[in-house]
Amino acid sequence: MRILQVSAEIFPLLKTGGLADIAGALPQALAAAGQDVRVLLPGFPQIVAGVAGLAPVAELRAPWGESARLLKGGIGAADVPAYVIDAPGLYDRPGNPYEDANRQPYGDSHKRFALLGWAAAQLAQGLDPDWQPELVHAHDWHAGLAPAYLAFADWRGRPRVRSVFTIHNLAYQGLFAPWNFTELGLPGEAFQLNGLEFHGQVSFMKAGLYFSDRLSTVSPTYAREIQTPEQGFGLDGLLRGRSGVLTGILNAVDDTVWNPASDPLLAAGYDVRRPGGKATCKAALQQALGLAVAPDAPVFTIVSRLTEQKGLPLVLDGLDTLVAQGGQLALLGSGDGWMEDAFRRRAAAAPESVSVTIGYNEPLAHQLFAGSDVTLVPSLFEPCGLTQMYGLRYGSLPLVHRVGGLADTVVDSTLEDMADGVATGFTFDEFSDAGYHRALRRAFALHARPADWRRVRATGMRRPADWGTAATAYIEMYQQALR
Ligand code: ADP
Ligand code: GLC
Repeated sequence: MRILQVSAEIFPLLKTGGLADIAGALPQALAAAGQDVRVLLPGFPQIVAGVAGLAPVAELRAPWGESARLLKGGIGAADVPAYVIDAPGLYDRPGNPYEDANRQPYGDSHKRFALLGWAAAQLAQGLDPDWQPELVHAHDWHAGLAPAYLAFADWRGRPRVRSVFTIHNLAYQGLFAPWNFTELGLPGEAFQLNGLEFHGQVSFMKAGLYFSDRLSTVSPTYAREIQTPEQGFGLDGLLRGRSGVLTGILNAVDDTVWNPASDPLLAAGYDVRRPGGKATCKAALQQALGLAVAPDAPVFTIVSRLTEQKGLPLVLDGLDTLVAQGGQLALLGSGDGWMEDAFRRRAAAAPESVSVTIGYNEPLAHQLFAGSDVTLVPSLFEPCGLTQMYGLRYGSLPLVHRVGGLADTVVDSTLEDMADGVATGFTFDEFSDAGYHRALRRAFALHARPADWRRVRATGMRRPADWGTAATAYIEMYQQALR
């Protein structure tokens, strides 16, 4: 199958969250399964700099008249073929892909991401004479217009190219003012309730949800949750209507990036059979962060965007209890200013027990999973979540709110699940200080029983999360879309 993957970020070139990890790993997994896969990316500076051998393929004219070039090159050792949209006026700016240096959304993002969907649809219609996809797989709202453009393209005399849309996070919808619609080059009929109109606005997310042939999201539980009013962000009715074509495919872990046995960023390597190196990693981490070098103090880690979604006020409220019981907290993250400040203040007040690093730091993220005992992910909602899976792989037991992908990947350490050998961490159901506290108490109670702790940790480290399984599920969905 010829498959075009469309996303705004891709690891290792440009990453603001888990989307990049998936966009980086999925094409390689599909290629390993024998598929002919290419990626399409906006020409952000890090992408233009990171894709090897970029050469022009075609001229591209946006619906609003702006010209751009389509380039092609390859990514990484696997040399994944990548198309890049060269439009410096839209993409070459300071800040991240979505916000300027002052964390304000760019005023013309409807154009910046419409061009992504537009280029995908043009490729599907023969823009590159050497290669045309049979299927376009668009990720999140940034690529949401691709299915809409494909739905309105003229397919007379050739097979219709199908589309699949994956929701990584329904909370971010790409909403724009109605007057922006006229610039998008879509027929008027697209802007209605049965289309991409959402309460009078243009919704790129809804375009993907409405016009794609198949839909997926990144865990089975989240696939159910988004069909309810509580978690549907106003789109649950549409999602219930499309439940027949919606599947939840759990994210996987890229073993070439996240493997404690071969991770070059760690002080020592280890695996489930020889876990000894983990203690070395813990001591090195405590030392590097200025925490008390105490082998018996359970280290809790957070590697996260600091936003409402991630439930971190629970951790702030419970921090005194965590420290009073002899625990340490090591946080790496960036996001909302008030949360950054709140965590910074806690670290300043107790530097031997609380370490807070504000910013983005890939090596430190690896060292935190390796050097910690517990990975905290108390998210209010979580489509899949990758950090709990990295925690599992690195022997840092996840403590999670039992929602979305967290519910699908972590089994609570109850007596019966420990007896059955399936427990891998700690979960709580009620999103409240009380719920979080009880899970925290379970973590401390288990930590006081080292043999049980090691058994649960080993179960977690063995939990399969391979991309081969996920790729098979995606291929099955692609085949359904093509049928
Ligand atoms: P989300 O995509 O909602 O942010 P995920 O758990 O799916 O949540 O993915 C987060 C990804 O971003 C993980 O790979 C995690 O390690 C990484 N990450 C988050 N914050 C940071 C940071 N400050 N520094 C380095 N990596 C980070
Ligand atoms: C989103 C979600 C996260 C998920 C990631 C990758 O950013 O918030 O839960 O793991 O996408 O699919």
